[in-house]
Amino acid sequence: MRKKVTVVGAGNVGANCALRLAGKELADVVLVDVVEGVPQGKGLDILESGPVEGYDVSITGSNNYEPTANSDVVIMTAGFPRKPGMSRDDLLLANYEIVKSATEQVAKYSPNAILILVTNPLDAMCWVAYQVSKFARNRVIGMAGVLDTARYRTFLAAELGVSVENISALVLGGHGDTMVPLPRLTTVGGIPLTELLTQERIDAIVQRTRDGGAEIVKYLKTGSAYYAPSASAVEMAESILKDKKKVLPCAAYLEGEYGHTGIFAGVPVKLGSDGIEKIYELALTDAEKAALDRSAAGVQELIDVLKQKAGI
Ligand code: NAI
Ligand code: 2OP
Repeated sequence: MRKKVTVVGAGNVGANCALRLAGKELADVVLVDVVEGVPQGKGLDILESGPVEGYDVSITGSNNYEPTANSDVVIMTAGFPRKPGMSRDDLLLANYEIVKSATEQVAKYSPNAILILVTNPLDAMCWVAYQVSKFARNRVIGMAGVLDTARYRTFLAAELGVSVENISALVLGGHGDTMVPLPRLTTVGGIPLTELLTQERIDAIVQRTRDGGAEIVKYLKTGSAYYAPSASAVEMAESILKDKKKVLPCAAYLEGEYGHTGIFAGVPVKLGSDGIEKIYELALTDAEKAALDRSAAGVQELIDVLKQKAGI
């Protein structure tokens, strides 16, 4: 039987997820959005690309969740990007309402689905979806580390003049300024990065990676990145749908791993048909652990705001 993926939010990231899922023939796709006509129109447009591109899956759009029933994977992209005059907490609470209501519907219609969260602030929205869905922790996963690592690999490949395929790397922690790229564990065709670049150049690339989302916003002015984010979410979906068991950095609910409990943070995981099938605990240096702790504290602050203001 064909797999089914629902993409909630038919905006920039959501529509591109649908297009990539269809292009790879990973599943039939249902796009859901609150705006009437948008998921239907974008869904039909993507479907009509099939004869040209050579893919053959069903793509439909809806403003309700009945057509999403029994999805294998749900990618949650519904939500606002930060707007002028909006504080971080305003965005947090606005997207909390959206992710909460959407997750309630997802859990009702697709009780066995695996959820991939994209909506920002990512790690806090994962926590909301985890609380609301009551799914086991292996079935609620956040997309950030794949994107942040892709940016880091892109910048390193350009600096070294080598193929991005040769860069093997890992970015841990929350999705934000405090993310934790790990140069010590980065290799270029098997060669440690630290043997190829000075500390000064590595530091500059790490900083550019941390600012990677903002760099795109500065160019676009009216929105944030969506090509690399959709590619990243679909890489995760593919590993789950095909049971590929890729090891990828994803936001996972921690129950003691890396010394943290009750929060989501980016860690290396194995992604297969059961979602997160394993969390890998690396031996970090003191400096790396301190950076991860700082990042986790930032996520905890947002969760505390939700607990206080939204009473979740
Ligand atoms: P967008 O504004 O293009 O699309 C968002 C869509 O969500 C809109 O079509 C809107 O109508 C829809 N929506 C709003 N409320 C809804 C609801 N209750 N149910 C269903 N749909 C609803 O935004 P874009 O660029 O697609 O980004 C979406 C989210 O993903 C943002 O929060 C953004 O910050 C986040 N993001 C996260 C990344 C990550 O690395 N985790 C990377 C890129 C974006
Ligand atoms: C990004 O990193 C906005 O989180 C989004 O591009």
